[in-house]
Amino acid sequence: MSYYYIAYDGNQYGPTNDIDELRALLLNGTIEPTSLVYGEDLTSWTAIHNIPALLEYIKSPPPPPLPPSRDPPKAPSTEFKTASQAPSRAQRHIPPGKDIGNGWFERRTQDQATYYFNGRTGKLQWDLPEEFENSCIVESGDYKFLPDRDEGWVPVRSNGDKFQKIDGGDWRASAADCACALPLRLSWLADKWVVHVNDLVLLPEVHDGLVLESLRRRFHKKLIYTSVGPVLVAINPFQYFPARYGVEVINKYRTCGNQNLPSHPYRTAGSAYRQLFESGTPQSILVSGESGAGKTETTKHCLSYLAAVAGHSSADSSGLGVELKLSSVNPILEAFGNAKTVRNDNSSRFGRLTELWFTPDFRISGATITKYLLEKSRASQPTPGERNFHSFYQVISGSKASQLGVDDNFILLGSCTKANGIDDVSDGATVEEAFKVLGLTHNDFDMVLGIVAAILHLGELKFKVDANSDHDGATLDPSSEVHAQWAARLLGVNDDDGVGCVHLTRALLSKTSQMGAMEAVAVPLRPDQACESRDALERLVYGRLFDWLISKINLHLAARNVVTARSIGILDIFGFEVFEVNGFEQLCINFANEKVSDACFASYFISLDAQQLYLTACPT
Ligand SMILES: Nc1ncnc2c1ncn2[C@@H]1O[C@H](COP(=O)(O)OP(=O)(O)OP(=O)(O)O)[C@@H](O)[C@H]1O
Ligand SMILES: [Mg+2]
Repeated sequence: MSYYYIAYDGNQYGPTNDIDELRALLLNGTIEPTSLVYGEDLTSWTAIHNIPALLEYIKSPPPPPLPPSRDPPKAPSTEFKTASQAPSRAQRHIPPGKDIGNGWFERRTQDQATYYFNGRTGKLQWDLPEEFENSCIVESGDYKFLPDRDEGWVPVRSNGDKFQKIDGGDWRASAADCACALPLRLSWLADKWVVHVNDLVLLPEVHDGLVLESLRRRFHKKLIYTSVGPVLVAINPFQYFPARYGVEVINKYRTCGNQNLPSHPYRTAGSAYRQLFESGTPQSILVSGESGAGKTETTKHCLSYLAAVAGHSSADSSGLGVELKLSSVNPILEAFGNAKTVRNDNSSRFGRLTELWFTPDFRISGATITKYLLEKSRASQPTPGERNFHSFYQVISGSKASQLGVDDNFILLGSCTKANGIDDVSDGATVEEAFKVLGLTHNDFDMVLGIVAAILHLGELKFKVDANSDHDGATLDPSSEVHAQWAARLLGVNDDDGVGCVHLTRALLSKTSQMGAMEAVAVPLRPDQACESRDALERLVYGRLFDWLISKINLHLAARNVVTARSIGILDIFGFEVFEVNGFEQLCINFANEKVSDACFASYFISLDAQQLYLTACPT
């Protein structure tokens, strides 16, 4: 067994080869019962006194009594030194520090972190002693986080009534701002805390101000992933860092064992896989955040990790593993379920749960996709300044456009048919290829294109008041007749004498009403009502098309041979957004986001509390 450890000088050393060496270090004072150690049998840095078995072993023979003054344990530094470089206690001298009363001294560690030592009781702590909490004699009274509309929280130094930002410049604050200021100590802003602490729960104080400051400072150092316990916080860098992903990095995370590698979607996926392996119970990963935050990208990283570590087991007759088919699902679902919005060029307009199923030897045997709340309203009316679903543009820029009678002037395409960075021609070709990989036929592909084109034709239908009607009843505008014929033909309701087209038009111009046992009658619709029923038909057809695609995909991803309850589910929920006026679907999306996040986080943390309570009550 080998161990790394943090010596009293705050630096990380190691590895020591065995426990006897650790004992020698305890004896010469290089480490103390409060020192942090890390070894193959530990999941994280842990104080020696929290590992009774280790302490017992190390204590025999017992270390000499500790001197009256001692530094508190330090968080692991990023600097790494070998064990032989660790200085012995005799080499140091501890200045007494600033006397703040009641026997307490405010001291600084080598890297200027503040801690408190009581000369009378020998007590040692990071936090300001309770009796001084409202006092202004210590450093903490001079610094605070003040709220700000744009920045969230800003760290400032108070100078009487005036404030200065820590990184320079005056800062104005109202009385209301000051009333809700959050505490801050200058030492907390050291890189050692706000940059190098990978898990926010290890910050010296966990409040909005310091958490935001840490995320901001880490982000500026291109550290886009941070943990909060088991939760991964990912910040969208809007630029690709190739060195962070790929087979080599996956292998590093796969073989890391208990090594504490930086937060990453690979680590989250790896932890779910390990838990599945160890407990045999289904696992789930919930990806949540506002639109454009990077949920879908993060989901893809989790899936690629799982595909790499647990794939290649179920090559079917076409020679392809499920994981490869799974990667072909993305272009299809994104073509039909994603759109360019004001926030995200590739915004998921539906929620997606991907469940991976595993064989008894923990290989991927199949997958199931469940969709939630597709934003169908977009199909009949794209939001101004945004695009419709990508599939619409792939159809009009594809080689079959003229055969389907569509071009880029159709109303449902909205005002921005072209979008920077989106290549509809090549994306359409990728979708066609993905159909093949998934085992869908050429006919399937043509039929799907035809249905999207039919919706585009439906969008061209215009209605006017029928001069022969007594009740402002609508009739089809003659300029739209050609589109009605296209739509009927592409939807498969036409026949040679054009009766299908008549049926389709009649269905849009009237509604059937039935009172009790009386015979059903067709009630003519006004032009505005006919437009509504046309829009409803577009939404219905697009929604059914999407459902059909998902059912086909599931059929091809279905677990073969082995069906077990071992699964990992990844929920990529649609992002919440706040518009001037939120439509009903957006309301549902925001509501679902809040509920799912609340339910998962609350139940997770409640269960952690319950475990802690149980362990406290039944220590053995
Ligand atoms: N880790 C990352 N590295 C590089 N670029 C990223 C990363 N995460 C996100 N992006 C970029 O941000 C864009 C939006 O990300 P993504 O589509 O994952 O957001 P989302 O949270 O799923 O949004 P929505 O809720 O609208 O679907 C991506 O198309 C990509 O360009
Ligand atoms: Mg998304």
